[in-house]
Amino acid sequence: MDMGVFIPIGNNGWLISKTSPQYMPSFELNKQVVQKAEKYGLEFALSMVKLRGFGGETEFWDHNLESFTLMSALAAVTSKIKLFASTAILTLPPAIVARMASTISDVAPGRFGVNIVTGWAPNEYTQMGVWPGDEYFGHRYDYASEYVQVMKDLWADGKSDFKGKFFEMDDCRLSPLPQGNVEIVAAGQSEKGMAFSSNYADYSFVLGTGVNKPTDFAPVAAKLADAAAETGRDVGAYVLFMIIADETDEAAQAKWLSYREGADMEALSYMGVQGAADTTAEDGSTAKAINLPEGAVNFNMGTLVGSYESVAKMLDEASAVPGVKGIMMTFDDFLIGIEDFGTKIQPLMSSRADVQIAAE
Ligand SMILES: Cc1cc2nc3c(=O)[nH]c(=O)nc-3n(C[C@H](O)[C@H](O)[C@H](O)COP(=O)(O)O)c2cc1C
Repeated sequence: MDMGVFIPIGNNGWLISKTSPQYMPSFELNKQVVQKAEKYGLEFALSMVKLRGFGGETEFWDHNLESFTLMSALAAVTSKIKLFASTAILTLPPAIVARMASTISDVAPGRFGVNIVTGWAPNEYTQMGVWPGDEYFGHRYDYASEYVQVMKDLWADGKSDFKGKFFEMDDCRLSPLPQGNVEIVAAGQSEKGMAFSSNYADYSFVLGTGVNKPTDFAPVAAKLADAAAETGRDVGAYVLFMIIADETDEAAQAKWLSYREGADMEALSYMGVQGAADTTAEDGSTAKAINLPEGAVNFNMGTLVGSYESVAKMLDEASAVPGVKGIMMTFDDFLIGIEDFGTKIQPLMSSRADVQIAAE
């Protein structure tokens, strides 16, 4: 079972709250997080792409670094951990992303991969004039399929003549080729998103759900497994959880309660409006979840709150769900969180008994 970290490329991580740790994203912060992750044997780190924040008093995600350039820098200061950058496919042509991947894989041979983001918040794209109109919601995974096909052609033999509905290559070339396989991950939760993953992705993210409900995502992992069975490809589920841990269950719960009480309602309501733009969204999709009237201080992200022992037990339970190949974590405070995970939580996890910790 792999463990990974969803690194804080945007300010305040994934807590839309005035009472959670307040911080700006920086290379230095992310370097420390990823180097600690590597030291404690985590297998991967992923950064998102987010191009427009939600505002509010916390200026939530108004401050974001760029995913590929950050991962390229992190590639140079790590040696084992796999790194995934995210492409917002409306903003970067696939032949350019293929070349960026090949460049980063030269820095980090065999340890670079790409997360495919179709996009759910129109403002990120309208602000720079690249939103094709709301009909895009209906065919974004067709667009993504062609996009990945172009990259795979280029990575396979340095050449693409792909002719599709959205992309036309004309003897397009790529050299040097990437060193090692460039893995593709995606995070679509909708049926079309899972069908896309089952055709093109190596791993697909599944959202953990609820608070201290470590196995409630199992039906979604089963849906992904069904979709993968149709294509006969091996597509592992990576589950996303926020970890809020402390010495005791009570201390961890108190932190969680305080973050919720400090919710930045202005930023949350902006997110609700953006999430509602996709009228094709299905009940299980992120767009619907974040549009719930009560709001969601951490995107309704599956959250594990408790003592180090409780969190270790819940992570073990999550890892035992059929189809799960990994868990990706966020934290309230990333530096403390990753250190506590490495020193206090992981040693208690039976599913991580075989992990080697690097010496200082
Ligand atoms: C682990 C994870 C990473 C994601 N990364 C991004 C991202 O970088 N940028 C973004 O706009 N959306 C991101 N998303 C949203 C997804 O790309 C996708 O739009 C969402 O899960 C809804 O699925 P659907 O599009 O199939 O409805 C992410 C979601 C998850 C679970």
